[in-house]
Amino acid sequence: MTETTKTSSTQKPGAPEPETVRVALGPRSYDIVIGADLLSQAGAYIAPLLPRPKSVIVTDTNVAKAHLKTLQTSLEAAGIEQAHYVVPAGEASKNFSQLEQLCDWLLSQKIEREDCVIALGGGVIGDLTGFAAAILRRGTRFIQIPTTLLAQVDSSIGGKTAVNSSLGKNLIGAFHQPDLVLADMDVLKTLPERELRAGYAEIVKYGALGDIEFFDWLETNGQKVLALDTKSVAHAVAQSCRAKAAIVARDEREAGERALLNLGHTFGHAFEKITGYGDALLHGEAVAYGMVLAFAFSAHRGDCDGSDATRLRAHLEACGLPATMAQVGNGAFDVDALIDAMGQDKKVKAGKMRFILARALGDTYIAEDVSAEALHPFLIAQGARP
Ligand code: GLY
Repeated sequence: MTETTKTSSTQKPGAPEPETVRVALGPRSYDIVIGADLLSQAGAYIAPLLPRPKSVIVTDTNVAKAHLKTLQTSLEAAGIEQAHYVVPAGEASKNFSQLEQLCDWLLSQKIEREDCVIALGGGVIGDLTGFAAAILRRGTRFIQIPTTLLAQVDSSIGGKTAVNSSLGKNLIGAFHQPDLVLADMDVLKTLPERELRAGYAEIVKYGALGDIEFFDWLETNGQKVLALDTKSVAHAVAQSCRAKAAIVARDEREAGERALLNLGHTFGHAFEKITGYGDALLHGEAVAYGMVLAFAFSAHRGDCDGSDATRLRAHLEACGLPATMAQVGNGAFDVDALIDAMGQDKKVKAGKMRFILARALGDTYIAEDVSAEALHPFLIAQGARP
């Protein structure tokens, strides 16, 4: 069960009221607050959660330049004593050595279990800080202040935390729910346009996986969301958070339904792996093209109408996201390398590949019967090299 409420706050005149989405997980329940100008009010939201007026902020070099001062000022105004720790920006920071240094620093700050560690940043900061909080003193509280669109609609919600291993991404981690998520629409204004589009793919994912009305709305309003029209982006983020919160509330540990949130991921991870998890293909871009393939493959199997696959492809392409193999990296992918990479995805279960496939836009399911033999001709038809 999830609830949405309008939250009263000290908003700038003319700014829409923030919206609160509750993630209902019994004693681990928490609010996601979505609105404009929230960073400068963070202290007022955080102070009531603290057992003592003390906190620490973990952020990265890029986010620190853009947003740390605003958060610090807001915490100071609420009387919260604070210190901060800055890690180098980028995926490379999600590693064991950074985790160890961060945990030692948190201990040196005498952070106790009931204190709150604040993660200010995108997915890397949220995952690293969340995992440090999960293991510090066997579990310390933390707060997510996501600064990318992707983190606001996906990675900051639901308690998946992790670092990378040399054997793969996110392979060492824990489920550890935050105590609060503050999604400020204004911080999105400093994001590079490409990163914004990549985050938008995860918003489309919620429509494609389970909500045709939301997909319809995105077809009409997607450009307004990408232009950061405050009302439109707040609606898209809130709707995405409601969808994720509802799924997480029903299946916190991905025993079943939560796997639907991986729509586009098994296909997408293969392209990310081959392109080196970097600038050649951002995660959200991989998810966009992965969703295109998931729907096209569903149509190829006869599960889904081809017109739904075409409609999804057209919307993603109109939003500047990769929708054909030629638009992914340098466009050259060997079919066997792709299938091999899909077989190593962490969603593999009992050695079998798992895909999220579709019956229609807004109606998806978990398929465990997909063989390499079935994928081979399909991927060649999509442009992979034999
Ligand atoms: N990003 C997928 C999940 O949180 O389950």
